[in-house]
Amino acid sequence: MTHTDSQPDQTANPEPVADLSTLPSPDGSTPTNTAGLKRIAVLTSGGDAPGMNAAIRAVVRAATFHGIEVVGVRRGFQGLHEGDMRLLGPRDVANIIQRGGTILLTARSHTWRSPEGRTLGANHLKAWGVQGLIVIGGDGSFHGAHYLQQEHGIPVVGVPGTIDNDLPGTERTLGFDTALNTAVEAIDRIRDTASSHGRLFLVEVMGRSSGMLAVHTALACGAEAVLYPESPEDSYENLVSQLNANWLRGKRSSIVVVAEGDTVGRAVSVGERLKLDHSLDLRVVVLGHVQRGGSPTAIDRIWGSRWGCEAVRRLDCGERGFYVGEVAGALVAQPLSRIMEPQPAPPGDLGRLVSVLAR
Ligand code: F6P
Repeated sequence: MTHTDSQPDQTANPEPVADLSTLPSPDGSTPTNTAGLKRIAVLTSGGDAPGMNAAIRAVVRAATFHGIEVVGVRRGFQGLHEGDMRLLGPRDVANIIQRGGTILLTARSHTWRSPEGRTLGANHLKAWGVQGLIVIGGDGSFHGAHYLQQEHGIPVVGVPGTIDNDLPGTERTLGFDTALNTAVEAIDRIRDTASSHGRLFLVEVMGRSSGMLAVHTALACGAEAVLYPESPEDSYENLVSQLNANWLRGKRSSIVVVAEGDTVGRAVSVGERLKLDHSLDLRVVVLGHVQRGGSPTAIDRIWGSRWGCEAVRRLDCGERGFYVGEVAGALVAQPLSRIMEPQPAPPGDLGRLVSVLAR
């Protein structure tokens, strides 16, 4: 994408838009286009997450199906602020469903935090004739989207994309399932060396302020303990007594999963403290961004596809100011204002299960 691509009237959609009014829409209904949409935009923002590409593909192809053009914004809100945009046709999203990251690129934009920054972005959208914006991202991205709609009246729809799975009103976000499986696979390998040496390993997983990834990882890999911020038993003293109890039960190696945002501390500092206090021969592994990359699981591809289509379908019906999600296996839509609610905690019983099953 070059600078000249960002001029509103210079690029033409490579694929002619067919008259689809007589065809059923992807969910079986007839495309309505009650909102009379001609052009929408899509961007990915915040931390990339596997499954974002599946959602981009679905947005572009569903929109084509509904007779709507799609403008791709590069580098999230930062790119919107700078007008880094181009038209995307169905062939531009070929062969991406299986790829991690995001073909639209992403950024954590500081300029977007100011009303002036958002005004510049809104002006670019208007100059391009964009009548609706689909934002694929997490908590910070949805806040940005919410302000854009409130301040400039641009219809906005969110598609949850973050490995943290920490958005209110949805039990799933794109990337969580992939990151979870990546972490579990890595810890399975660590388990081999931990048991061979009879060692304690502290493994840090991502989650800036959420223990969702940590507690699910711990349960799935049979960890001996887990530290995560929402846990009612989240303390250094509890960890030590759990490790002692496991030692007395005859366990000679242990895996402790530590959430990046845990209140006891990062894995490295908890490890240092344990070494000092108990002279343990332990090792620390920080999985870090390994969890953010890689080919999305089938689940993340399927939900990326469903949500991308649903976002377009609802915009096409004239709806705005919501984000899609999943509750109890069903596709749902939540008002965008719900992003102001506290982030959900992992189900309380999961942390307890980890310690019960570590016996
Ligand atoms: O996107 C969510 C997340 O992966 C968090 O779990 C993590 O704390 C953060 O992003 C890391 O962000 P960055 O890649 O900007 O360092």
